[in-house]
Amino acid sequence: MKVVETIKDIREAIKGLQLEGKKVAFVPTMGALHGGHLSLFRLAKKHADEVVVSIYVNPEQFGPTEDFGSYPRTLERDLEFCEQEGISVVFTPSDEIMYGIGKKFMSIEIEELNAYLDGGSRPGYFQGIVLVVNKLFNIVQPNVAVFGQKDYQQFQIINQMVKEFNHDLSLVMAPIERADDGLALSSRNAYLSNEERKKAPLMYQKMKQAVNKIQNGLLVPKFLLEEQQQELEAKGFKNDYLNVFSMDRMAPVSQLKKGETYLIAGAVYLGKTRLIDNIIFEC
Ligand code: PAJ
Repeated sequence: MKVVETIKDIREAIKGLQLEGKKVAFVPTMGALHGGHLSLFRLAKKHADEVVVSIYVNPEQFGPTEDFGSYPRTLERDLEFCEQEGISVVFTPSDEIMYGIGKKFMSIEIEELNAYLDGGSRPGYFQGIVLVVNKLFNIVQPNVAVFGQKDYQQFQIINQMVKEFNHDLSLVMAPIERADDGLALSSRNAYLSNEERKKAPLMYQKMKQAVNKIQNGLLVPKFLLEEQQQELEAKGFKNDYLNVFSMDRMAPVSQLKKGETYLIAGAVYLGKTRLIDNIIFEC
């Protein structure tokens, strides 16, 4: 496994592989790797001959009051995981390498897709993601890139970006990897106290309950989700959003059509930890 830090070195490594006729899959991450990331690596392997991973905590996607400073950084352990998973190349750039050139021309606007969910709650978040993923795609130029359903809005925005910027690659979405009690794996779960960790799966349980009720025609989403939110608040969660969204436009829907597919998605705070999760379901 090669671990490279510069743009020149990663380009050389990838070109070498592609010249040998190898298909390259790319999995961008912010490190603090867990089973969710590993499931992406394994899926990537199914779509390509070689898997390339980036580990970079991107300052541009954190707001001024968010957890950039305390975001878990576990590089040594991450590299061991990558080695065990048979990753070919790991790209670990510094801030200087990613952004040292400065930003004289760059300004990213995201017209649609960004108004609700995390886009609505975290100003600048997806602008920072589009910026870094666009740069990473230009640097790595993979044949395939894999992202998780856990961040469904991120997947949709990157999918649109790939089309609008004509990146020559195909995107693959990996299902959400969960702990045995249903909690979606996340690097931020490391912030949870023991007591919070025990409570944390409740959001997923409430979302599953909501999907069941919707599928059985028992409740209209608006009222249903108010009830779920109240139940979560009563258990000490602070709600950011919990709603049913259209799959393509990422906008809340109140009228559901039989046979259509929707996304139920939520974000809550448990203490200082922000948890997100979602379920794709057919009505
Ligand atoms: P990060 O949070 O490290 O996630 C990297 C990838 O792992 C994303 O595609 C995310 O959706 C996926 N992932 C995280 N938890 C998962 C889970 N439980 N099951 C399945 N997939 C999961 O997302 C980012 O980093 C950044 O925004 C990035 C794309 C790297 C840009 O900086």
